[in-house]
Amino acid sequence: MGRESIIAVMNPKIYLAPMSGVTDLAFRLISRSLGARHCFFEMLDAKAVLYSPVKNSRILKTLKEDSPIAAQLEGADPSVMLDAAEKLMSLVDISFLDINSACPAKKIIKKGAGAALLNDPDRLGKIIKRLVSKVGIPVTVKLRTGFNTRDVARCVRTAQICQANGASVIFLHGRIMSQGYAGEVDYESIRSVKHSLRIPVFGSGNIFDPFMAKKMLDETGCDGILVARGALGNPWIFKDIEDYLKHGRTARNKRLSARKRALKKHLAYIEKYKDLPPAHKTGFKGKVTMWYLKGLRNATRMRELIYKVRSNAELINLIDRAD
Ligand SMILES: Cc1cc2nc3c(=O)[nH]c(=O)nc-3n(C[C@H](O)[C@H](O)[C@H](O)COP(=O)(O)O)c2cc1C
Repeated sequence: MGRESIIAVMNPKIYLAPMSGVTDLAFRLISRSLGARHCFFEMLDAKAVLYSPVKNSRILKTLKEDSPIAAQLEGADPSVMLDAAEKLMSLVDISFLDINSACPAKKIIKKGAGAALLNDPDRLGKIIKRLVSKVGIPVTVKLRTGFNTRDVARCVRTAQICQANGASVIFLHGRIMSQGYAGEVDYESIRSVKHSLRIPVFGSGNIFDPFMAKKMLDETGCDGILVARGALGNPWIFKDIEDYLKHGRTARNKRLSARKRALKKHLAYIEKYKDLPPAHKTGFKGKVTMWYLKGLRNATRMRELIYKVRSNAELINLIDRAD
């Protein structure tokens, strides 16, 4: 896909964000079936792409209808990143390739990858340049607004380095690394980056409903948004946001019966596509179930019961009885 066609992919500018351990094939299929138009595979470690075929086949599991889809690589060595990108592209068809410069996980920071690249923008620039010169598809970068301290000018400079080295889009999570996923979203930094670059900038952070989506777009002028935790147990969010942005229509709260229906479909996808030993699969399904049922009156009791469940039949029985 060329530079122009990324603009087509970017329409209507609401993407499901990459989330490790979350945005697997089952999650993407339920999200797409209810309105998500563009998704990412879960983040891939560049070295694992090269040397761990089992992990690759788990993360890169996909179907024809699971498209368009982007991939995200994390790593710190430009040559390894390029080899991994080429291997990745021989395995799956992706709309663009994103470089993770945002992940706060200690084991990733320790090897100089993820958000650690915010402290080494020259290295980040080299990775981007290397990939852009070879891969033939758009290369994008996921950034945070800073590492340990907020510094708008530095954030803008980092994004400009990405642009100068050929990045096609910046995805900007409006938090510094040390905030993790909590706290305020820094709209000002996103706005400054947006107004300092020629390439599109997508905002990320606290998009939990259509109002927060509009707030992100209005306050920053960004070109698009990433929906992350707002999609957990709420696969309708993409359509709800689109309807609100286009027609000003606010969605009704989803009835429990509709939530249970979507949940069961999601669980069926997990059953069919998730490669996990049976006991782990049941535990994973329990976690997903709580995403959908978290607003319930007796959610705490429900959580206790779910963690005792040992089979799919028991879980479905519990879901049927939930009120
Ligand atoms: C469980 C989880 C896993 C995540 N994994 C990734 C990841 O692999 N790559 C990435 O760029 N961002 C990852 N993120 C960050 C999200 O893409 C997003 O930028 C962040 O959650 C802010 O959006 P939110 O406040 O709307 O959730 C992850 C977030 C969560 C909650």
